[in-house]
Amino acid sequence: MRKIMIAGNWKMYKTIGEASMLAEELKKELATFIEADIVICPTFTALNTVYSIVEDTPIKLGAQNLFWESEGAYTGEISPVMIKACGCEYVIIGHSERRKYFNETNETVNKRIKAALGIGLNPIICVGETLQEREADKTKAIIEEQLTGGLEGLSNEDMANSIIAYEPVWAIGTGKTATPDQAQEIHAFIRGWIKEKFSTLISENLRILYGGSVKPENSKELMGQADIDGALVGGASLKEDSFAQIAKNAV
Ligand code: PGA
Repeated sequence: MRKIMIAGNWKMYKTIGEASMLAEELKKELATFIEADIVICPTFTALNTVYSIVEDTPIKLGAQNLFWESEGAYTGEISPVMIKACGCEYVIIGHSERRKYFNETNETVNKRIKAALGIGLNPIICVGETLQEREADKTKAIIEEQLTGGLEGLSNEDMANSIIAYEPVWAIGTGKTATPDQAQEIHAFIRGWIKEKFSTLISENLRILYGGSVKPENSKELMGQADIDGALVGGASLKEDSFAQIAKNAV
């Protein structure tokens, strides 16, 4: 049985003070909620403060990105070691916004995944097609390309510590959600691909999250699909009531 995971991607929202308030509220809502794994991913600047608020709760902390070197002259970058030291157990890698605005490629995604795994962080690896790619009937080809490049050289053990998030780019922040059937089709495709490249056991245990305009109103139906094991939530994770409701709906 795969345990449901609900992860909140706070993106570039919330100062330290605002992040602390949200974390305090989530702590009230979810302090005893253990039916699903809850992960929150604030900005780098708020990580350590948020950690001090949730460290004694089941709520886990994740970062939104990392650089692959552990230290050095890389002005402006944050290393896996630094993220781990903030209390993170997870890190989002290859989000479509990073691919689009910061030239992230499957190759750099791969380096970041390996760096995360190397220090014991669990990567939440994002894949997904644009609207143009979907309309050109290239969805599966794009996902396959992202998986092939992103997961290159990973072992079964690495995969056992990883999570995949399918986030159709056209559904992120747009209010347009993939239908449960559309999402299920791609989740099943991803699981099948993992089975072929790694093993049946790895594929059966792998959690594949759906992301893209997940909200309390649509989360139950999405999470009810056989191959959807949780959600990566953007906008609706910025308010404690909607995020907590998504978590409660999922189990
Ligand atoms: P959204 O974002 O829920 O606001 O669509 C999801 C994401 O980008 O992870």
